[in-house]
Amino acid sequence: MSTTTVFPVKTTTRKKVTTLTLRQKKERGEPITMLTAYDYPTALIMDEAGMDVILVGDSLGMVVLGYENTLPVTMEDMLHHCRAVARGAKSAMLIGDMPFMSYQTSTEEAVRNAGRFLQNGGMDAVKLEGGHERAEAIRMIAAAGIPVMGHIGLTPQSVHQLGGFRPQGKSALAAKRLLEDALRLEDAGCFSIVLESVPARLGTLISQKLTIPTIGIGAGAGCDGQVLVTHDALGLFERFTPKFVKKYADLHGEMQRAFTQYIADVQAKTFPAAEHTVEMKDDEWKELLNSL
Ligand code: KIV
Repeated sequence: MSTTTVFPVKTTTRKKVTTLTLRQKKERGEPITMLTAYDYPTALIMDEAGMDVILVGDSLGMVVLGYENTLPVTMEDMLHHCRAVARGAKSAMLIGDMPFMSYQTSTEEAVRNAGRFLQNGGMDAVKLEGGHERAEAIRMIAAAGIPVMGHIGLTPQSVHQLGGFRPQGKSALAAKRLLEDALRLEDAGCFSIVLESVPARLGTLISQKLTIPTIGIGAGAGCDGQVLVTHDALGLFERFTPKFVKKYADLHGEMQRAFTQYIADVQAKTFPAAEHTVEMKDDEWKELLNSL
């Protein structure tokens, strides 16, 4: 008698996370969870785990495509990875990161490219970097009905202007400018702002002054939510690890172990074993041999 294996179908009962969900979480003092993802399986697992927000970050340029920084990432790169993530995650809010030069040249270009993330990338919202100088573009993108997340502090697309990947807002003047930028972005229509690599007490102050949620990365526990680059958190990106990263796994070590074992098994002919092998009935085999 043949038995049929029935795989349980995973049904998501979780409600779709929206900008409203995030605002309500801030009001209730419930931390917002966010990580980056760039592919289908990672997005699927994150969504199942109950992540609030998945960011398809342009960090993919460094941690997936192997560039020195995020500057070479194109709109086509972003949309390709956004679509893969959108196929995997159904409940988390999905945010597409606008790449370098997709929103800086003109407001019209910014709106058009932001729209592509929703129309061709399956995203729910976009993120872009910069302070008061981005207010006009943000206002127009939001006016087109596209939720926009801001990003201030260490803005990796300005790495050359900042003189490297360095913490920001450490002097009183620089901190005041970041607070003013945050207020300007809120006024321009951002639904949330990422604060990257700023002193923890500045992260707390900005979070208290804004009605929209802040998401910190190296900005302390006083932010309304937290984000990390997943490849940092899983120990999969070894080139450098910022101080603010907590490693939740050592996937580099685990993958290295698996690959080394595979090579050893193939060389020793212990893989494939009988259980990995397709068999053929003896009479079929004999018929074949007789026909030769
Ligand atoms: O690109 C990215 O992953 C980001 C996060 C660091 C916030 O912008």
